[in-house]
Amino acid sequence: MTAIMPLEKQAFELDAADPLPTRRAEFCVPPHDCGQDGTVAACEAAYLAGNSLGLQPKALAARLGDELDDWAKLGVEGHTRARRAWLPYHELLREPAARLVGARPEEVVIMNSLTVNLHLLMVSFYRPTRQRHAIVIEDSAFPSDSYAVRSQAAFHGYDPDSAVVRLGTEDILGYLGEHGDRVALVLLGAVNYFTGELLDIDAITAAGRAAGAVVGWDLAHAAGNVPLRMHDCGADWAAWCSYKYLNAGPGSLAGVFVHQRHLADRGLPKLAGWWSTDPRTRFAMAPAVTPVDTADSWQVSNPPILAMAPVLLSLEMFDQTGMPALRAKSERLTGYLESLLDEVCATAPAKVITPRDPDRRGAQLSVRIAGPDVGPLTDRLRDEFGVFTDARRPDVIRLAPAPMYNTFHDCWRAATALAAVLSDQARHE
Ligand SMILES: Cc1ncc(COP(=O)(O)O)c(C=O)c1O
Repeated sequence: MTAIMPLEKQAFELDAADPLPTRRAEFCVPPHDCGQDGTVAACEAAYLAGNSLGLQPKALAARLGDELDDWAKLGVEGHTRARRAWLPYHELLREPAARLVGARPEEVVIMNSLTVNLHLLMVSFYRPTRQRHAIVIEDSAFPSDSYAVRSQAAFHGYDPDSAVVRLGTEDILGYLGEHGDRVALVLLGAVNYFTGELLDIDAITAAGRAAGAVVGWDLAHAAGNVPLRMHDCGADWAAWCSYKYLNAGPGSLAGVFVHQRHLADRGLPKLAGWWSTDPRTRFAMAPAVTPVDTADSWQVSNPPILAMAPVLLSLEMFDQTGMPALRAKSERLTGYLESLLDEVCATAPAKVITPRDPDRRGAQLSVRIAGPDVGPLTDRLRDEFGVFTDARRPDVIRLAPAPMYNTFHDCWRAATALAAVLSDQARHE
């Protein structure tokens, strides 16, 4: 701890000198009781849990207020007369969402929640046959992705234990080369939720498609974290949530990407609702869908405006700063945090398990800590030091400096607090 304590001044200097000023003041940062001698920065949390749930933009309350106000004053007329008319509201999100994931506008739509979207997309893109019905996921996939693909395999009458192939990320390309002819679907987290590893999206997509499989990506930990090129990499489809790096609030709406080459394919099975049909004839009330050649044809229900408003605000903020600038800052912050954590780990039974190469990770660093369950440790970090991290029990904590609002000083606080708690633990062993 003593080695990194004097670096606080340096952390403040790094913040002052950084070419991308933090937007922290535009977010509601949870308060922290800093006592008598705290700096303003220390009276707020050092919130490094944006990979789990991003912070609330201060502008959101007014945005939601606008929608509530329009609803109050206009009732049903708000569909066409609200300041942002509700009927075509989702169109406002299309272009910024496309920029965020590197897609063409017609390839994306914001709707539902992440796992619901995974299922809707698998209705179209998991078409198993007796010869080709395997689904490849990573062995450290987020559990709900595993539940989703297992339930899809079972739904089609296959045994999930044999249909779902769980692979180490280093084994995926080899497996596709050797056994790709039995793979129907590859579904991987582009940034792994546990280790923070950024997979080689281009290489895996190319290998999966060359093997004749469909390739889908879960971008939950990638959207708003790393630059993405979903169209150019040739992925068949992708889905992401917007409550992590995108700061759109707990359970907020999710996104979908479907590659252009599938948009006009009338042979794809889809589950339909009235938002699947062509908006120009929606109110003709015809009994059958009139298809549209955009990702909108995967929509089912009319969009929840109060849930869309936070996503729109979020996408505006990402457009204002831009992913290239955010990524550059993210690399600076995470690299700095890594250097401090290395110092902490040098004298503690702890190890950073995230790849060292900045090109192979996003903002998040995961630290494996030997000893007692890490749950109480992350509680202490939060309650005593105001440092929000998260515990992946029993032995991993995750720290993610989000470049939109985190600072070098947040990283310094996290590392010094971790050093203090670990040395305290060692004393009591
Ligand atoms: C990689 C990944 N996939 C899926 C999910 C589940 O998403 P939801 O509950 O929003 O459907 C999460 C949630 O954190 C996640 O991190």
